[in-house]
Amino acid sequence: MTPKSESPERPETSSPPAQHLASELQILRAELEIQNGKLREAERRERDLTESLRESRHLDSLGRLVGGIAHDFNNLLQIISVSLDLLENDSRAEDRSDSLRTARSAIDRGSLLTRQIVVYGQRAPASSVVLELPALLETMSPVLRSLMQGQARLVIDADPEAPAVVGDPAQLEQVILNLVVNAVDAVGASGTVLIRTLADHLPHVVPPETPARPDQPALLLEVSDTGSGMTPETQARIFEPFFTTKPPGRGTGLGLALVHAIVTRHGGRIDVQSRVGTGTTFQVRLASAPGDLVRTAPSAAAPESVDLDGTVILVAEDDPVVRRTIERLLRRRGFEVIVATDGAEAVDRFNAHAASGIDLLLFDMEMPKLSGTDAYNVIRHHPACPPVLFVSGVADEVPSPSSPRIRFLRKPYSESDLFATLAALREEAMR
Ligand SMILES: Nc1ncnc2c1ncn2[C@@H]1O[C@H](COP(=O)(O)OP(=O)(O)OP(=O)(O)O)[C@@H](O)[C@H]1O
Ligand SMILES: [Mg+2]
Repeated sequence: MTPKSESPERPETSSPPAQHLASELQILRAELEIQNGKLREAERRERDLTESLRESRHLDSLGRLVGGIAHDFNNLLQIISVSLDLLENDSRAEDRSDSLRTARSAIDRGSLLTRQIVVYGQRAPASSVVLELPALLETMSPVLRSLMQGQARLVIDADPEAPAVVGDPAQLEQVILNLVVNAVDAVGASGTVLIRTLADHLPHVVPPETPARPDQPALLLEVSDTGSGMTPETQARIFEPFFTTKPPGRGTGLGLALVHAIVTRHGGRIDVQSRVGTGTTFQVRLASAPGDLVRTAPSAAAPESVDLDGTVILVAEDDPVVRRTIERLLRRRGFEVIVATDGAEAVDRFNAHAASGIDLLLFDMEMPKLSGTDAYNVIRHHPACPPVLFVSGVADEVPSPSSPRIRFLRKPYSESDLFATLAALREEAMR
């Protein structure tokens, strides 16, 4: 909008002296400056308001997230508590093993839930290994099956010829888990959830950091269900964080946002087809791993072949209950156990006992004073430093360079995984 006084077509007759014109211009400039200031102030207020709205939405969603997690965990603890009560009173071996199975599956689900929370906090793939989704699906299958309700069926159709991919196993586990949990919710107590992995010959996925392989088929992971399906309006919003159609306590609306973020981080793409009353199919495409990289099977524990009786082990764990339980487990198996309550004490204990011989170390990674990895970094230069097993509920792997003398187990781990891994380390030490 040009002010009238600035118009160049102003008639000659009414033309004011040049001085008057200049002062009028000055007034207009000053006014413009004031208006500009007001505009900037309004913009700033709008930014502040948007920010506080975003923060309050974030807090609100955080509250819902925490509420949802607390709810899920309480249910799992309830299952474990009831199973233990039953176990105490059951006399039939069949009932006892049933209670044990139920408790173990609740623990597996709790463990997946904590993995999910950890993955939410990550921005990038924490690790990149060559992995085969059929093998990953096989390790996940007991947990996936435990999610099914009533008569609902889970079918896993994994083509062993499907290409390997490069990715973070913990994060890709989350992709599968979230898609399956949604499918399970959609089918309820009847219907079918189908997971397929196959080679997809459309060359449209090329992750940014992987050498382009337009000649290679991508990996297609498909999770489909014969459940409720979605309206186009719902479908348009499913990847929005905190979008959910589930009642409070049943869903936080973060599942698919996380799936989308992980697939994108891995340079892949995700598509969805759905029809109300018919079902839904999610398709995830990931580029195949470069052929010259070696395929690695998921970290299956080595079979126990060495005698562990009399093995001296230094255990560093800050949680007293966890420490006592591990100690009991190890002693029952014939280990001689030295315990430390934090990383600094672990170094002291090592120095005190190194001369008489310590065969293995079992270090929690997160401990006060000195972390497990820091404690190991102090000890590792000692000529008598034995192999180490790191355990963690937060980390995905050991940060230091990989070595057959360093192993990792994610908490919670099973007794059989623990002993198989310790046996493998012991074998390594005796080479
Ligand atoms: N397989 C499916 N069938 C039908 N609707 C689905 C399916 N998968 C996702 N949805 C819809 O998408 C919404 C968002 O899914 P998302 O996984 O992000 O969150 P959620 O399952 O509601 O909660 P959360 O995963 O955080 O527990 C769901 O609430 C549901 O409406
Ligand atoms: Mg979900």
